[in-house]
Amino acid sequence: MATPSLSLRHVSDFAADVRASLTKPGQRELPSKYLYDEVGSALFETICVLPEYGLTRADARLLQKHAGEIVRRLPSPIQVAELGSGSGKKTRWILEALSRRQEIYYYPIEISPYALAACEKELGQIDLVSIVGYEQPYLEGLRAVAEGREEQDHLLVLFLGSTIGNFDREAGEEFLREMRAFLRPGDALLLGTDLEKSVELQLLAYDDAAGVTAAFNMNLLARINRELGADFDLSCFQHEARWNYAERRIEMHLRSLRRQTVRIPAASLRVMLDEDETIWTESSHKYRAEEIPGMAERTGFRCDGQWIDREWPFAQNLLIAE
Ligand code: AVI
Repeated sequence: MATPSLSLRHVSDFAADVRASLTKPGQRELPSKYLYDEVGSALFETICVLPEYGLTRADARLLQKHAGEIVRRLPSPIQVAELGSGSGKKTRWILEALSRRQEIYYYPIEISPYALAACEKELGQIDLVSIVGYEQPYLEGLRAVAEGREEQDHLLVLFLGSTIGNFDREAGEEFLREMRAFLRPGDALLLGTDLEKSVELQLLAYDDAAGVTAAFNMNLLARINRELGADFDLSCFQHEARWNYAERRIEMHLRSLRRQTVRIPAASLRVMLDEDETIWTESSHKYRAEEIPGMAERTGFRCDGQWIDREWPFAQNLLIAE
């Protein structure tokens, strides 16, 4: 795949989002989706193998161990769409299990062309699996896949890695409802959810000793410098991970180490930050296994199965569209 260039539309959307979120009254924010440029996507892949970040290994362990059982519960014939495939490594178990019983079309849906290219490389060689990537926002891609399928084909949607945790809880449920609107009764959603664990472990997972998560967070400012011509001085910011007890989520922030003014020309913006003021860049909500069936019911699904990793509390939930 050729190196993607920055389209004018991308720059103006990015600039508008940065402007809107940094000038919101109260807590300043930046949208977490912009963490994933080429550098951010590579840093995220590294986070996934950090000793402190058990989430990805737990997700993969469950898929490796239970893919056969999960696949036995799915209707046939079925095609697979994945929202936010990342590198696609964990998906191999499901595709291999499915391809033992039928030929499969696999549709990874990704806004990051870098992740899509990595995923096509990782999974391109599995017998009887054809890959058709969609470089689109999740719901637009899912709509295209759902509308384009043959009448008899069911759909399995993979939403792994607890990406749902990056939505606010209500927005996460709304997203499940919107997804459900593209599905037919009997279609399936395999939803990965990171479960609550000790606050100490959760904080370490988002503030690792090697500083990879700090670099991932800080890269958002570097990206604004690169793409929008801003002058963030990265040495004047510090990565911070917080546990929000009321909302049961980890929050990533960037703390301004002094009073400073930053210029972002492409967003026609000057931001004055106080010492210790923070920019909130991401939330990762954590779940309790027993709350998933209720979430499923409220959004048009039923929870047909749940597999939990005991080493790093994490659940794979098989939801069936009602
Ligand atoms: C992609 N997402 C589920 C990750 C998470 O755990 O919320 C992103 C991440 N942010 C910091 N570390 C990992």
